[in-house]
Order: sequence, then C-alpha cells, then structure tokens
Amino acid sequence: MVELKGLIIDNPKDGIFRVHRSAMTSPEILQMEQERVFNKCWLYLCHESEVENPGDYRRRNVAGRPLFFVRGSDGKVRVFLNTCTHRGALICRRDQGNTEVLQCFYHAWTFNNQGELIGVPDEAGYGKGFNRAEMGLKSPPRVDNYRGFIFVSFNPDVEDLVTYLAGARDYIDLIVDQAEEGMRMIPGSNRYSIKANWKLLVENSLDGYHVKPTHKTYFEYVTSLGIRSSAVQTAFGRPARALGNGHAVEEHDGVRGRPIARWSPLFGEETKEEIARIRARLVEKFGEQRTRLMADVSRNLLVYPNLIIIDSIDITVRIFWPITPELMEVTAWQLAPKEEKGELLARRLDNFLTFHGPGGFATPDDVEAIESCQAGYKAEGVEWSELSRGMHREAIAEDELQLRAFWRQWYGYMLGLGQVDTRDPVVRERSSVAS
Ligand code: FES
Ligand SMILES: [Fe+2]
Repeated sequence: MVELKGLIIDNPKDGIFRVHRSAMTSPEILQMEQERVFNKCWLYLCHESEVENPGDYRRRNVAGRPLFFVRGSDGKVRVFLNTCTHRGALICRRDQGNTEVLQCFYHAWTFNNQGELIGVPDEAGYGKGFNRAEMGLKSPPRVDNYRGFIFVSFNPDVEDLVTYLAGARDYIDLIVDQAEEGMRMIPGSNRYSIKANWKLLVENSLDGYHVKPTHKTYFEYVTSLGIRSSAVQTAFGRPARALGNGHAVEEHDGVRGRPIARWSPLFGEETKEEIARIRARLVEKFGEQRTRLMADVSRNLLVYPNLIIIDSIDITVRIFWPITPELMEVTAWQLAPKEEKGELLARRLDNFLTFHGPGGFATPDDVEAIESCQAGYKAEGVEWSELSRGMHREAIAEDELQLRAFWRQWYGYMLGLGQVDTRDPVVRERSSVAS
C-alpha cells in the first residue's frame, strides 16, 4: 500500500508547494484515483446536442466504464451502463447511430431506446419470478445536465451538480450565453493519446507560464499574419482563480479575436460587420462588462477532475482518461453557437484544427512538453515537482495557483477528506479580512 500522506508539500509560510513525482508514475496511485477521485466526483459525459433527434445514440467510456446515451422516442436523453442485464454483453456496439431498439447480439434480448426490455426470445423458458419490468437497462447512480453539459457520477451520495460546480458554474454560463440559439457540439472529434500521466494535461491546460517559451512557433506565425507580437506577448497578467472543489480558471486577453465577438485581422475584413452585430446583441442582453468578459477575455477552465473547456477563438471541450500511469487518451470536441455559420464558423473550426488539434500549432508542443516530463521522471533521483510560483503574491495566469487548486483537491480526495479549501493562503487571508 502506498503512503499517500506527504505526497504534497503545501507550506504557505515559506511559499513552497511541491508534488511528489510518484503521483505521476505509480500504478497503485492510479488505482486509488479510480476509487477515490473518479468514483467520487461528477464526470463529464457529453453535450445534449450530440443526440439531437429521437433515437440518436452514442457510446463513450467514462473512467473506464462503457456507457452510452440515447435520446428516447419520448425526446428525453438517458444514460445507460453499456451492459446487457441478461449476462453482460455490450448492448451498444457502434460508436453512434439512430435506432428505436437495441438488440443484444448474444441472446437477442431487445430493449427500446428508453431502456425498457421489450423482447425476450422464448420467454416461457423463465419462471414466475422473472419480471421483465425489472430487467431494463441500468443507468449510472447519478446523471445530471447543466445547461446542456451532461455529467454522470458513480457516487450515489454525491452532492447535486450545481453545488459541485461551485464557481465553475459562472464560467460555464459565460460560455453558453455567447450563443443566441444555444450551443451545439460540432459533429466529429479529435482523438489522440499522450504518453504521460493524465494530471500533467490538467496542469498543462491551465498553465500560462509555458505559453511563450513552448509555443514560440505559433507566435511567430501570428506575427506574420499581422497581429502585433507585443500584443500577444503581453496578453497575460490577469488573475488566476481557484473556483472551489478543485475547479480553476486561467484567463488572458483574447488578442487573437473571437467569432464572439471581437474582430481581429485573422478573421478577414468581410467578417467585421457580423462580429460587430453579435457584440451589440451581447451588450444589449448582458451589459458592457459581461460582454467584455465573453468577447475580450479568453480562458482555460478546469471542471474538476478532467474536463477542460478552452474558451478562446474556438471553444474546445477536452476530456482525457488514464489508461496507465504513463498513458492517457484524449478526446476533444468543438462547441459552437447553433446559429453560427459561414466564415465565422470556418474560422472557429480552423482554429480548432490548426491550433488546438493534435497536428496543430499548440497541441504537438504541449504533448511534447508533458511527454518530456514523464520521460524525465525516469531519471529518478529528483523526487519533487515544484509548483510554488506566485504563492507569495496575488497570483496571475502565469503563476501556478490554478495548478495548486487542482492538486489540493486531488490530495483531499486521495486522503479521504472530501472537498477541501483549495485557495492559496494569500487569497484565503484576503477574503477573511473582507468578511
Ligand atoms: S447477454 Fe444479452 S441477451 Fe444474453
Ligand atoms: Fe500549451
């Protein structure tokens, strides 16, 4: 049994925060994460727009468990464990489709798209104790939907989703409210694997410190397109925030523009008017200040433990699951306002592909960086990773406060303490003075 106590050094007095590198390499720790983190939290499954029409279904693995979700003929989206109530076979054997019934290929039990068992070959072979009504498909203990984002939890006692989301909720609102007719997940996804511990991608996704050195090539490219490199280079310095329950956000000035609703030369002259129109609509509905947050600020949001929403030129929704301590699988989708079309949608999808995509400007750099960390751990002899940056001050996006928030909550779950205060001491003190 590994000793969990002492895996993190959190010493506000000296401004030191360190994580023991076995957290990224130990198979025992990965196994404990399954029980103590993934079996306790709410976990992102899908966006409701992915099953738009009655009968639409998709299958997906969450924390190693096969699930599928389907919009029933009654219009309601349900999530099921992908296992036959007879003897266990996978019921849903395609990644996606549309159907009124799902028939198990093993002995042909048949379920409708609302999960009810409607057909059993040679049912007379069962005695009176056999009750078809009890043999419907089973759902995870908890399923909930926040503004189109569907989450599941394998913990029947988990708090309700809105409470769990804590301060992350407002940021999800900031994203969803950008659309006039609601958001949709664009069909198709990026799927790739990374030879690194899953927590390194949490860190990387929130890390403002690496951006300039790691993504140098991209900044050179952007400069060549006519955006002042000084503007890009000074985009940072906004405060970073721990949002409660391990959620965190890193924000920066969105100098590269947004289809919602900030024009930049990257979009081309012909989009100027349309973007101004969207902006005016947002101002009318949400006021100047909130519109500025939506349109002028970009953000990387962590919904604990492993959902990242990158709200920038595009809106990338990224989820990743550990396969081994040193390997993860990543899936990323693109979220867009339902009404967005033409050039603006094209710009968004272009950024999703050429910046956030696995062959884009950003992701290969990031993958190289975190695979390199994982490879570096093999040197052993250096036990700790150092995440103290900004602990002594009001932390900014280039500091590591957001990473500490994640790690504090990880440690809280691993030690069985449940939810803990994930804020930096400076922040805690300031709020106690304020109250
Ligand atoms: S396992 Fe599904 S019908 Fe037998
Ligand atoms: Fe990066």
